[in-house]
Parts: sequence; structure tokens; C-alpha cells
Amino acid sequence: RPANPCVIVIFGAAGDLTKRKLIPALYNLARSNLLPNEFAIVGVIRAPMSNEDFRIQMSRDIEEFSTNDIDPQLWQWFEKRLYYLAGDFQDTQTYSQLKELLMQVDRECSTQGNYLYYLATAPNFFCDIIWQLGSVGLTQEDGSWRRVIIEKPFGHDLESARALNKNISTILKESQIYRIDHYLGKETVQNILVFRFGNGLFEPIWNHRYIDHVQITVGETVGVERRGGYYEGAGAIRDMVQNHIFQLLAMMAMEPPVSFEADAVRDEKSKLLKAIQPLTPQDVLTHTIRGQYGEGIVKGEHIPNYRLEPRVAPDSGTETFAALKLMIDNWRWADVPFYLRTGKCLPQRVTEIAIQFKRVPSLLFHETSVDQLVPNFLVIRIQPNEGISLQFGAKVPGPTVRMGAVDMDFAYTDYFNSTPSTGYETLLYDCMIGDATLFQRSDNVELGWKVVSPILDVWKALPPRDFPNYAAGTWGPKDADELLQRDGRQWRTST
Ligand code: BG6
Repeated sequence: RPANPCVIVIFGAAGDLTKRKLIPALYNLARSNLLPNEFAIVGVIRAPMSNEDFRIQMSRDIEEFSTNDIDPQLWQWFEKRLYYLAGDFQDTQTYSQLKELLMQVDRECSTQGNYLYYLATAPNFFCDIIWQLGSVGLTQEDGSWRRVIIEKPFGHDLESARALNKNISTILKESQIYRIDHYLGKETVQNILVFRFGNGLFEPIWNHRYIDHVQITVGETVGVERRGGYYEGAGAIRDMVQNHIFQLLAMMAMEPPVSFEADAVRDEKSKLLKAIQPLTPQDVLTHTIRGQYGEGIVKGEHIPNYRLEPRVAPDSGTETFAALKLMIDNWRWADVPFYLRTGKCLPQRVTEIAIQFKRVPSLLFHETSVDQLVPNFLVIRIQPNEGISLQFGAKVPGPTVRMGAVDMDFAYTDYFNSTPSTGYETLLYDCMIGDATLFQRSDNVELGWKVVSPILDVWKALPPRDFPNYAAGTWGPKDADELLQRDGRQWRTST
């Protein structure tokens, strides 16, 4: 059913996110009849431009970035609903003009005063924009709704995330705040809960009695692209671990919520994050690995040293790779290590959760040494080649008993005929209908920061690492392999 009448106000509408994801996602929603007829988009951008030019620009961008063919009639409907406001995000005048424009849009499109503000700006503007919206009365809800989507990064560390939460809570109620993590928009991530809690088969073995350990890998073949300026101040822990990887971890490891209501799910996520054993400084030395790529070859292409990227310091200490071992202190996960890793310029683009089950108790196969036993792996492939596979051992045909690894495999493309999407459709739609289940609550974000705080502190206090310590196109520094080898294990995809 279509969402409620509303206006989406995008701050930073000239940026990449708007043209690559937001407009194509909104167009896809229109295509699926999920946008109401009473709908409009207002782009707020610093550079002056006419409404007409804005529409032309958006029409060009959608041709390039749409995930589906453009239906001219539908685009015409869409384009008519695009408005534009030029203004500095810090200037009070911008907000009085925005208020006037929104009243005009309400009259022209019958949007009923429901406004969704999307902060697709640099994080230093988040607070200002919310305060300014508040000061002209654009965040008050009387009879209509007002919601704000805040992009990552939400804070730079625990202290700044707390300060941001505190600051915006003076203007907005928690129910108006939608902290986005685009990983939760991925079908395969949402499917983790369906897979776990919708099937009788897996949940009974989803615990320390049957699971040996869990590996979460988010490998990227891309480098920092044109984002050196941002990435230099972030690094892999802030960019990927604190948010996306912890979301995957929480979905994989949390207890069943009592319902799929937003707070029920978010309560369980918080409980899980709270149960992660805090890392002592000593743990940081032994359980965490950082790396930075040097020159190398990725997918046949020569990649220069990270330190030579634009807006990166020539002696940069920023990590482009991180691996860590975490333990979760609850009954379900007692003594089950969770190994997490992510990196730029790795040989393969792969996001997966691999669950290794425990070995059989005794060895009946005399010719098979323990090392040759095929491990039972359940692999949830988040992207690409979305699906789930279960690896087990089978008898290799022949007169002797030998074991070979085989797979039972489910691929999304074999079963479901879904249209290509950007991953933002569900999130935008959910916000329009007021469902915050897939968004982060203030405590979820802060708990994520709390877990990574000791890592960031210890790394900062240590003398600079001898970077680069892995070549682009390899699976990160050797230490990352040793992290598992010390425990008698190995990464699943690194061979
Ligand atoms: C972003 C990070 O949040 O996620 C990027 O800032 C990263 O550095 C991206 O490349 C990965 O997203 P996806 O959807 O391509 O896995």
C-alpha cells in the first residue's frame, strides 16, 4: 500500500548519494506503486540553480543511475514533484525560505504537512540543520509528522556520538529520529532474521553446543575512490566495523525478539552488543589486527599505494583493513569466537557470514586424519551472488572411504524474480510509514562505539605502524591469518 502523503526534503541533494541511491530508490518505489500521489521532493543545495535546471539534472542522473528502465510517463509524474531550494545549511534564512516553500508544496501537492528530512550532508552539519529546522517550527508534530533520517557516520567516537544524541534530543523525540545503516536495507541482511526465526531447523543448533566459531567477512575490491579526505579521518573500524559489521553480527547472534516491532528488535540488538566482552588494552594487542594497502593488482588493475591517494597523508596511519576476534558473554555464545574482518583492495568483493559447526565426536574414518574432515560450514552470502549454502562432507565414490566437500546451495536468483533495487527502497518506505525497525536507536549506536573505543584508543596510543603491510589484491596482512591460526582455525575464503 502506498505510503502516507509527504514531502522528502533532501539536504545535500547535489551529492553522490542523492543521484546514485535516493532518487533511483524513490523512483523504484513509484514504480511499485508505493509512493502516494500526494508526494514531493525538495532538494536543498548550496549552489543557486533554477527549479527547471534541477529537474533537468535529475532527469539526466536517473538515466545514468536507475536500476530499472525509465517509463517516460512515470518519470513525468515524478519530475513534476521535484522542487529546489538554494541555501547555505548554516544560514537561518534558508530555513525561513524552506518553511515557505513547504507551505507552497503542501498546497500544490496536498502533502498535508508531513515532512521527512534526509540529511545527506557532511556530518558536521547534522546538528545545525536539526536546530535550525527546530527554530522555525519545522520539527513540531501537531497532527502531521516530522521525521529525520541521519546518514552515517553518527559520531566519530563514543563521546561525540553521545553528544550528538544529546544535542538532537533537545529538538526531536527519539521516535522522530531515523539513524540509517544502509546494510539493513539489504534483502539478504533482513533475511537473516527470517532464516533464523522462520525455520524450525536452524535455531535449535544456533548456539555454543553446535557452533565452533563464526566468521564475518566484508571484503571490498575498491580502494577509497574519491573519498580520501573522509576516509583518512575514519579508517576501517569507523567506516565499516562499528556500523555495518556490528549490524550483521547483531542480526546473526541476537536472541529472538518478542515481535518484529521496532523496539523489540532494537532491545535485542542492544542486549547482544552489551554482551560483547570488553577488550582490555592487552586484548587489543592480541585480538585485533590493522592493515593498510600498498601497491598491487586488483582484478588485473594496478592499484597505487593508499598513501598516494588524493587527500591522504604521505605517512598516513589510517587502517584500510581490520580484523578482530570478539567473544560474547552470554549463554548462547559461551566460548564461541566471532572473527570479523573487512578491508579495501582485497582480491574479492564478498560479504558473508560463515558459521562453522563443531566436528563429529569420534573419528570413524581411519584413513581420514582430523585435518581432512570436511568442516560443516553454513554460509550466508550477503553479496554478491546472494544466497545461503551448507557445506558438508560426502563419500567420494570408489572402493576406499574418502571424504569430499560438497554444497547444498540456495541462490536468490534461482527462486525469486525481484526487480533490481538500490537497497534504499525499504528504508525510505519504512520511514514514510513510521516503522523504525531497520533503523538504529540511540543506544544501539552508542553501544557499537563502546565496543570499538578501546581499539581506537590503543591504536592511537601506539607508535605508528609500519604501513603499508599488505599488497592491494591480497587478503590483508599476515597477522590476520595468524589471528585464526593461533586458535587452530583459518579464514574460509582466503585461499
Ligand atoms: C559505506 C562505506 O558505508 O559502505 C564505504 O563508507 C563502503 O567505504 C560501503 O565502500 C560499502 O557498501 P556496500 O553496500 O557496497 O557493501
